[in-house]
Amino acid sequence: MINKENMLSDDEKVTQKTENLHLRREIGLVSAVSLIAGTMIGSGIFMSPQWVLYYVGSPGASLLIWAACGLLAILGALSYAELGTVIKESGGEYIYILRNIGSLPAFLLAFTSVMVVRPASIAGISLSFAEYVVASFYQDCPMPQVVVKCTAAACVMVLAIINCLNVRLATSIMNIFTAAKILVLLVIIAGGMVLLAKGNTQVLQNSFENTVTGFGPIGVAFYQGLWSYDGWNNLNSVTEELKNPEVNLPRAVMIAIPLVTCIYLLANISYFAAMTPSELLSTDAVAISWGIKVLGTWTWIISLGVALSTFGSANGTFFSGGRVCYVAAREGHLPDILSMAHVNRLTPSPALIFTTFISLIMIIPSDFSSIVNLFSFTAWLFYGITISGLLYIKIKKPDIPRPYKVPIIIPIIVLIASVYLVLAPIIFSPQLEYLYVAIFILSGTILYIPVVRYKWSPKAFRSITLHLQLLLEVAPADKNQ
Ligand code: ARG
Repeated sequence: MINKENMLSDDEKVTQKTENLHLRREIGLVSAVSLIAGTMIGSGIFMSPQWVLYYVGSPGASLLIWAACGLLAILGALSYAELGTVIKESGGEYIYILRNIGSLPAFLLAFTSVMVVRPASIAGISLSFAEYVVASFYQDCPMPQVVVKCTAAACVMVLAIINCLNVRLATSIMNIFTAAKILVLLVIIAGGMVLLAKGNTQVLQNSFENTVTGFGPIGVAFYQGLWSYDGWNNLNSVTEELKNPEVNLPRAVMIAIPLVTCIYLLANISYFAAMTPSELLSTDAVAISWGIKVLGTWTWIISLGVALSTFGSANGTFFSGGRVCYVAAREGHLPDILSMAHVNRLTPSPALIFTTFISLIMIIPSDFSSIVNLFSFTAWLFYGITISGLLYIKIKKPDIPRPYKVPIIIPIIVLIASVYLVLAPIIFSPQLEYLYVAIFILSGTILYIPVVRYKWSPKAFRSITLHLQLLLEVAPADKNQ
């Protein structure tokens, strides 16, 4: 690895800038709210409602699941807000597990998150973006899969360029797209209100008929709902770039998540006001079927809205996912090159390029619904571990300064929920895929021992790092204090 000084002698211009190279604090409250809400609102609210209904059987139970998912997201985010104000480093779950629990579990999280979870969610959201965009060109015939996949790949590349260019561009895109998608959801909500006012109130009658009970189906229904809420923890991945994090982190969480929860519940009511449960179950894309019924020729607004929404959410996932990779590399858990930042643009470009690369590979075999189930399983496993770390410091280190304190009952509830979410689908509807995920996570241990524990780093690796460093114009960056 070359250090900053070596890099400086290469380029005069770089000289002035690499002193104390670090990512700037550019995220204010508005961008923080839109980073959370803009990542949460993505594909889910337009694709998952029929799956939640499918697993629980009735509109009433569906709405309860959506409300419970929102509540869980709020409780989870409040717990994370305390963690984020105590441990002021970026990296989200990764850094909390590293500081509170230990190096091996943190490494396993970084490994799983960087190699699978984040790229899979970027691939999943980009695929839904592509499906909606391509569908508008193939209205009367089936869409060729290769076109869908190429469009998804193009989406990922554009996001990569935006995020590598500069932080402000990425956050501005986030703000604009968040506003646009909220507007489209407000159209859906207003349409639903009109239908209810006109007397389409069948959703309110016998709304619990055919409800399916049982731990397994409810667990999987939660997975589908929680995919739509995922992103509630996103701000914690970028704490070091947040202005005044002690105040803005809890505040952004308390604005963004209740807002998204209300929007989701009202949008679901609107879907039920326009369609019977069996109509809803037979659609491919709920929002489009809703548009055809309610807006007629104006359905394109919904298609456009979904495209904007998914693009914005993928941008948020990209933005924060790149940071987790960057922080894990800075802590020595991933190759050094991934912990560097561009000397002029101050973006963690190697980490972003790496995330792009894996996401592109994931697009090739992926299908949306299996990504969602596996994503939620893995994500909640690590959320549970993170929360147990919070409980540990709350009990063992009650005296460390805490700008924001969450009542202990909240992380306890989230921990119980995450244990249930991880175990219920394994016990009640076991699938081999969950086992594969578990094996994959544990296989990280084999890498951990030589690479992290014994710091094995072949010479060739160092020279590759050096070349990449010169090629990408990046240098090691410091932590933001
Ligand atoms: N909630 C988003 C959606 O409905 C998915 C967000 C995934 N990204 C993430 N960073 N967790 O599409």
